[in-house]
Amino acid sequence: PYVIAAACIDVMDRSCIEECPVDCIYEGERKLYINPAECIDCGACEPACPVSAISQDRRVPADQSDFVADNARFFDAP
Ligand code: SF4
Ligand code: F3S
Repeated sequence: PYVIAAACIDVMDRSCIEECPVDCIYEGERKLYINPAECIDCGACEPACPVSAISQDRRVPADQSDFVADNARFFDAP
């Protein structure tokens, strides 16, 4: 799946939401999150983000790898 990382924090441009064909991008308090169970890996959201916050999980920069786990936690929350 694709993952939204640090650049989204407090920016929350939301252009990505309109591009997602399966509506799997959800709003948190300070950033948005992609549901890994619903993302179909289409890549449409990545170029839509003006701050390049989105990338495929395999390509998330090493210094931002925590966001892959943070993303999963967001959706595991009861
Ligand atoms: Fe939605 Fe496609 Fe982005 Fe996944 S890669 S979040 S399905 S737009
Ligand atoms: Fe965030 Fe970029 Fe979407 S700033 S809300 S990931 S368009």
